[in-house]
Amino acid sequence: MLKLRRRKASDLPTLIGWVPDAAALFLFSGPRLSWPLDAKQLIDLEQVAGLIPWVLVDDSDEDVPLGHFDIDLTGRSAQIGRVIVDPASRGRGLGTELVRLAVDEVRGMDVAELGLYVIDGNTPAIRIYTGLGFIQEPQSPRPGMAAMTLRF
Ligand SMILES: CC(C)(COP(=O)(O)OP(=O)(O)OC[C@H]1O[C@@H](n2cnc3c(N)ncnc32)[C@H](O)[C@@H]1OP(=O)(O)O)[C@@H](O)C(=O)NCCC(=O)NCCS
Repeated sequence: MLKLRRRKASDLPTLIGWVPDAAALFLFSGPRLSWPLDAKQLIDLEQVAGLIPWVLVDDSDEDVPLGHFDIDLTGRSAQIGRVIVDPASRGRGLGTELVRLAVDEVRGMDVAELGLYVIDGNTPAIRIYTGLGFIQEPQSPRPGMAAMTLRF
């Protein structure tokens, strides 16, 4: 069964291995992280107050991450970011399950809305978010990226 656990330092090499080039990094993190991705940038991001990184695992082997995201909680708003699935396991529903579990996690917090940014044209990601009830905002403050929100 798929489940979430907190990201550990030992997950970082696997996660970095899922981001083979600058284009993949841009899909993963937008302009927030710079190529080449390294453990320091990911650890530094953890210092942002309210930001918690998670990984998706199968409970048959919880040491092996299958996907990743983080949740940044500010007051009654949360943002989901750094969503990624192991490239070897894409197209089998893991991304959908990862975001569904993330939404369940946020639902358990005292949060009114969950927002995110997605690069324009990132069809698999947009299909996941739309299918789970995220609505695209009419305007986005970030050029080339759509802002989407799920209101609880
Ligand atoms: C986006 C991502 C997480 C999706 O993970 P995944 O495990 O492949 O997702 P799923 O298998 O659950 O598929 C999600 C949807 O995308 C569709 N899809 C999958 N691959 C696709 C492709 N290459 N082209 C178009 N649609 C595709 C699926 O059919 C599904 O849509 P549906 O439920 O309407 O049928 C994964 O592609 C990824 O890690 N991408 C790189 C990082 C990234 O883009 N992150 C998003 C940041 S906002």
